[in-house]
Amino acid sequence: MTKRMLISGGRVVTAVDDVQADVLVEDGIVVAIGRDLDALAGDAERHDARGLIVLPGGVDVHTHLDYDTGSAHTCDTFESGGKAAAFGGTTTIVDYAHQHRGESPLHALEDWMKRAASATVDVGAHMILTDAAGAMMADARTLIRNEGVTSLKVFTAYPRSLMLDDGAVFRALRAAGAEGGMVCVHAENGAAIEILIEEAVAAGRTSPKYHALTRPASMEGEATSRVIRLAELAESPVYIVHVSAADAVEAVVEARDRAIPVFAETCPHYLFLTDAAYEAESFAEGAKVIMTPPLRGKEHQNALWRGLASHDLQVVATDHCPFCASEATLGRRHSKATEVQSFDVVPNGAPGLETRLPLLFDAAVAKGRLSLNRMVDITATAPAKLFGLFPRKGTIAVGSDADLVLLDPAGRSRVSAAGHHSRIDYSLFEGFELAGAIRKVFLRGRLIVDGAEWHGRAGMGTYLKRGPSGAVRL
Ligand code: URP
Ligand code: ZN
Ligand code: ZN
Repeated sequence: MTKRMLISGGRVVTAVDDVQADVLVEDGIVVAIGRDLDALAGDAERHDARGLIVLPGGVDVHTHLDYDTGSAHTCDTFESGGKAAAFGGTTTIVDYAHQHRGESPLHALEDWMKRAASATVDVGAHMILTDAAGAMMADARTLIRNEGVTSLKVFTAYPRSLMLDDGAVFRALRAAGAEGGMVCVHAENGAAIEILIEEAVAAGRTSPKYHALTRPASMEGEATSRVIRLAELAESPVYIVHVSAADAVEAVVEARDRAIPVFAETCPHYLFLTDAAYEAESFAEGAKVIMTPPLRGKEHQNALWRGLASHDLQVVATDHCPFCASEATLGRRHSKATEVQSFDVVPNGAPGLETRLPLLFDAAVAKGRLSLNRMVDITATAPAKLFGLFPRKGTIAVGSDADLVLLDPAGRSRVSAAGHHSRIDYSLFEGFELAGAIRKVFLRGRLIVDGAEWHGRAGMGTYLKRGPSGAVRL
């Protein structure tokens, strides 16, 4: 029997539209958008959206859920992370699976699938490649061709664990491009940074601010330019993750001006916080903002906002990589607590899955930094297009999944870790007062968030076999 749902009287906003309309859903798919659809709706479940904005569910293409770094483990599972995402208006996640050295990427995907089986929102995977030897690359190509994992991630940082040399990065770019995939790059000059870290630690400069001082913006800019040149040589698209520095934005702009298919993402923490946060009174407080790349000064932040407004940056993703501030919350392995207080041993990463849309709505609409359409674009439509999920995800259109968010523009919210649904015990944005409040969230037509109530369940998220990545020109 067909299950119908009608959302009536809302202001339906996509990356291009802004219309007063009803949305009719059948079996989880949008079947009509228009005026006065009530007559068509029959026995549909009805939701009154008068006074509310109806948005497509957010698409967050940068998370690390249930992720083991070797020395620590992120504190959100796919169940808790998905729940946090949903309360923050995100209904699709593309998470990073991780191939360890000597491991086939196909095996790494199998492993990730087991963990992702508890997902509460829809999930896809990128594959972190740390070993690009011949047989590994062959398996990575199979992932792209057959498994819907159409994006690989490589690091030019972390020489002791994750970094690939330029030859391996080039091989990955060429292989991905040939298969209709795209490489996502963590771009920092790991070799130079490693020397700065060693010198700082040897000199006893170990407080959190040295995390930022040993990872200069220029080395993010250098690595970004380098990988873009390698991508050009490989004739493949490339996506730069978590851009934090004006130097990297400049490299992206320079390439895009030459019509090179380069895409770039930034994250809420770089848009709303600065490196002043490293001056916190205690080590533990400063450790909360140890993420890579580090927070930067205001001039970098301004460059990121300009990049979003000018479309030189296309995506805001969270890089949700949560470790609790206190080991008492979920144990040491899920925390930033370490034996010695030195910035270089603190697990890198910070939470953000639940606050992306609320922060951006406040900044975009209430403070006028971006239009509402542009907010939808950078949080849903562009990531869906870049990573092979559009138009199923990332918009509200006939035939799309009915992943919908009802947002009350007259509402207000206050960010607080205590009120969050993630297992994390802190928020980077604690106490921020924000315009707008999310009232309801639907995943494929099913109401999963209703005010403060949770109606989702573990395992209701589906695995998304994605189409080609990087095949669009944004
Ligand atoms: O500090 C960060 N960003 N940790 C997550 C891993 C990565 O580099 O994206
Ligand atoms: Zn990274
Ligand atoms: Zn990350």
